[in-house]
Formats: sequence, C-alpha cells, structure tokens
Amino acid sequence: GSGKFFVGGNWKCNGTKDSVSKLVSELNAATLEPDVDVVVAPPFIYIDQVKNSLTDRIELSAQNVWVGKGGAYTGEISAEQLVDIGCKWVILGHSERRNIGENDDFIGKKAAYALSQNVKVIACIGELLEEREAGKTFDVCFRQMKAYADNITNWTDVVIAYEPVWAIGTGKVASPEQAQEVHAAIRDWLKTNVSPDVASSIRIIYGGSVNAGNCADLAKKEDIDGFLVGGASLKGPDFATIINSVT
Ligand code: G3H
Repeated sequence: GSGKFFVGGNWKCNGTKDSVSKLVSELNAATLEPDVDVVVAPPFIYIDQVKNSLTDRIELSAQNVWVGKGGAYTGEISAEQLVDIGCKWVILGHSERRNIGENDDFIGKKAAYALSQNVKVIACIGELLEEREAGKTFDVCFRQMKAYADNITNWTDVVIAYEPVWAIGTGKVASPEQAQEVHAAIRDWLKTNVSPDVASSIRIIYGGSVNAGNCADLAKKEDIDGFLVGGASLKGPDFATIINSVT
C-alpha cells in the first residue's frame, strides 16, 4: 500500500455521554501499533468530551461540516469551529449523507473548503448494489472521484475511503479481491486524472462491514491502506484489533 496505514472509526449517530466515556477508556487502555494513523469520528456534540479525555495518540474527526464559512446557517457546524476545538479531520461524501441529498458537487465544495481551513478530509465514494450488478462500479466511483478532483487542488491532507454501499452495516464485507480491484482502479484513475505522485502517495482505505475477524485478509492487499470502520469501532478491543491488522 501507500503511506502509513490509516484506520478511522466512524461512530455515526450512536452513543451517550456514558457510552462515549466507556469507549474512550477502552481506547486509552488499548495497545496500538505505532505505525498506524488512527482517527475517531464521534457525533458533533461529543467531540469536545472525547478530545478532552482521549489519548493524543488518536486524532478526532467530524462526520460532516458546512460547505463554507460559518454564519446564518441554522444547524450547521463550520470548519473554523472544528479547528477551534482541535478536531483535525472530517468525513465527507459518506453514502448515508449522499442518501439524504448531498450531491457530488456539494461534497466536492465541502472538501475544498475544509482543506482551505486545514481540516483534513476522509473522502468517501462507493457504488450501490444495483450499480455493481449493472457493471457500473468503476463509472460511479470515477464520477464521484471527478467531483473531488474538480474541487481539490492539494491532495496531501486527503484520504480516500472506498465504501461499497451494499457492504455498509450489512455484514456483507467486500472480498479482499473485490476491494483490491476497485482500489487499484481508483489509484489508476488518479494517476491519469490527477498525477502519478498523488496516485502513489494517497491512502485508499476500505469501509463496509470491516470487523476484527475479516480485517487481516483485507489488510494484506496491495492497494488497501487501511479501513473506515462503523459498527466495530464502537467496541474498543475490536477497533484495536483492526488497527493492529497493519501489515
Ligand atoms: O463509515 C463507516 C462505514 O459506513 C462502515 O460502516 O463498518 O458499520 O459497515 P460498518
């Protein structure tokens, strides 16, 4: 793979102050391989609690961010505010947000604005089951990649997360071969459409039903540079096992 192994935990809309406190304790107690970047993404309202209790070994991510500078945007959180509380990353383009109306261009603009404020981006892409079955997996992933590429000028602070929608929260993990095939295609697309340097240095991580039992085989694949983990990131020991699956 490329660069340092990267494992993100997307807690989605889960947790209470008490469960967050328990999970933080588990993560603080875990032994983690040193050569892995680790990021967790709590719901916005718990980010500050986590920031103040979690080991500095693990960085913080938001699960969304406003598309521009803050102001009269009811219910939104700005990149400036993420910076203010020490939250260094944001997940963008997740299928669960695309599914409620965020389109490629809006996501691309969010990525560009976050990066302009020095918030690093976990840029998600991935096809629906019917798109895979129609043979459109690469078309969909390349279209989503193009929207990022049309907006992003510096890819240094970007990690790409390939998350086939049919694998998210379903227990139906992509096989290592299925994931590797798409990761290699994305890297090839970047080589042609962005630059060979970006293609060879960027981390492309896999998400979708990754767990403590299936992570090791996925991690062996050449173009799989880490994981974006949902459900299994809510259990400290399982998340640690996934982090430690680095090869
Ligand atoms: O962002 C994380 C992904 O949506 C994967 O979620 O591990 O629960 O399938 P999952």
